[in-house]
Amino acid sequence: MTSSTSVREKPLDPEEPGLPEEPAAHEDPFDKDDLPTPPGATPALLRSLLSPLRGRVVLAAVLLLLQQAAVQAGPLLVAYAIDSGVPAVRADDHGPLIAVAVGYLLCAASSGALQYAFIVASARVSQDVLLDLRGRIFRHAQALSVDFHERYTSGRLISRSTTDVESLRELLDEGLQELITVLLSFVYISAMLLWLDLGLGAVAVASFVPLYLLVRLYQRRAGALFRERSTAIAAVIVKFAETMNGIRPVRAFRRERANDARFAELNQRHERTNGDAMLEMARYVVGSRLVANIAVAGIVLWGAQRVADGGLALGVLAAAVLYLRRLYDPIDRLGMFLNSYQSAAASLEKIAGLLAQVPAVPEPDPSAARALPAPESEHPGREVRFDGVRFAYRTGGEVLPRFDLTLPAGQTVAVVGSTGAGKSTLAKLLARFYDPTEGRVLLDGVDLRELAGAELRRGVVMVTQEAFLFSGTVAENIAIGRPDATREDVERAAKAIGAHDFIASLPDGYDTDVRKRGGRISAGQRQLVAFARALLADPAVLILDEATSSLDIPGERAVQRAMHTVLRGRTAVVIAHRLSTVEIADRVLVMEHGRIVEDGSPGDLIAGDGSFASLHRAWRDSVVS
Ligand SMILES: Nc1ncnc2c1ncn2[C@@H]1O[C@H](COP(=O)(O)OP(=O)(O)OP(=O)(O)O)[C@@H](O)[C@H]1O
Ligand SMILES: [Mg+2]
Repeated sequence: MTSSTSVREKPLDPEEPGLPEEPAAHEDPFDKDDLPTPPGATPALLRSLLSPLRGRVVLAAVLLLLQQAAVQAGPLLVAYAIDSGVPAVRADDHGPLIAVAVGYLLCAASSGALQYAFIVASARVSQDVLLDLRGRIFRHAQALSVDFHERYTSGRLISRSTTDVESLRELLDEGLQELITVLLSFVYISAMLLWLDLGLGAVAVASFVPLYLLVRLYQRRAGALFRERSTAIAAVIVKFAETMNGIRPVRAFRRERANDARFAELNQRHERTNGDAMLEMARYVVGSRLVANIAVAGIVLWGAQRVADGGLALGVLAAAVLYLRRLYDPIDRLGMFLNSYQSAAASLEKIAGLLAQVPAVPEPDPSAARALPAPESEHPGREVRFDGVRFAYRTGGEVLPRFDLTLPAGQTVAVVGSTGAGKSTLAKLLARFYDPTEGRVLLDGVDLRELAGAELRRGVVMVTQEAFLFSGTVAENIAIGRPDATREDVERAAKAIGAHDFIASLPDGYDTDVRKRGGRISAGQRQLVAFARALLADPAVLILDEATSSLDIPGERAVQRAMHTVLRGRTAVVIAHRLSTVEIADRVLVMEHGRIVEDGSPGDLIAGDGSFASLHRAWRDSVVS
């Protein structure tokens, strides 16, 4: 092989296999480029999640209100027992005391029953909300364009649908009930105390002011920490997912140490924010207890004085102290509920940001969507036209300067050119992974943007180098493009492409699970499966982007022979660095720096003196020598 040739047999450039990229130490991508959540998106999301469950939300709220009423009747009954029951017993009348005892038991029993009903009702609400939310995240993320997924790593998506949904679950299942209970008891108890004794009630209500200020202070400080913590845990997950996805280059380039250091740093950052949040919480707990105890002490002192003076019934004082204990007891836990409330709010905001993303390659309105015209011949091929197309990725400069190109139906076009020339970009525009920045891509005269998704996927199929296999059997993997295909169809496609022999030799043949025995399926075999998948989908336009790069020479030759059958009548775009592939083409396009610099039949181009002719000579020499 001559080293001067630019024909590449395999990627040799060490930069190419896609080393997991290290963010520079000074900039942390997770801090700023998380999707900004548009104002109003979070409450709107919450509303849309809860409004279908409105009935059950109301039911749960009513149950909780009744349950609280039953619970808070307790101290009132105690006051009645002390102030009326005891004097009556002294007068030999046991009636009132018995009534109090029965009433107390009834309240306890009904509060238990109501609590049970509330938990059942609210658990249903929370299950439905979480179910709905997870489904929405998955569907939405799947519908977003390739462009989005290139920016938003899969790790962050995973953290949205795991950690973030989980923190919502914590709030809905545990925190929210407690939070509402505490807030409700504030209202109940204030009303009760004010009614029992205006003075004592006023002192209790006054104590809410410093408590409220404490809560606000805590919320402000902890809120920032919780947002930071959720960003930090997302960074940990992203690093984890990225490293494990790229485990091969990690091994190959001995990145383990550097990765360990970076991971430890991210992990520690998460721990640190967690620790800071706990510290805030400890301050809050101490502060709120102090306020509560001062209030109780004040009320006992002043109340006892008044009881001694005869200005206050003993039972009322007892009830007031009981109420306040009930109120202040959960107050240090209020911090915890606020915790879960805050992290859930932070999570919901992130999820709302994700769900507010609009696909850059939107599906057309169902009413405006157009179908492809009926085919003119029995051949599946259709005409492709790039009409005044210009393209730039979201980041970076223009990749394809304005051009026009027509591929007649049924033509097999080979696209060659050096690395980075824009071949894959051209293919991705045709497969509508992206829309052109300017101009139109037309399939039999219909703008791809007007084609409904299903119609487009039947029209254009692209096979790339990656040849991804999903978990499931080999047969299922082949049938992805046509789920209704029979086993015969699957086998016919595999045979046509030359994949049948290797599949038949797998332990369970076509029923072999590719994940369980994934190691046994080589890169070349994966490509064969991907080919069979594309053939079975029977598209009008087939794009092969270096789809044979992992095959050995005999394997590629076999695929090339099969190509004659596979591509017959279809419009095909074949991108290949190995020029042997070009031999099956009717037409060759040579691309340089985003421009088509040569266009003609292989024979003409080889006979000419352009860059393709010299490429071809170099390649032939390398094959011969
Ligand atoms: N997602 C992307 N975002 C920004 N720029 C991109 C993106 N993908 C490709 N590019 C840039 O567009 C140019 C053309 O890339 P393209 O993948 O089309 O080249 P190619 O001809 O297929 O190369 P190769 O032979 O290596 O596959 C390159 O300069 C590349 O850096
Ligand atoms: Mg490419």
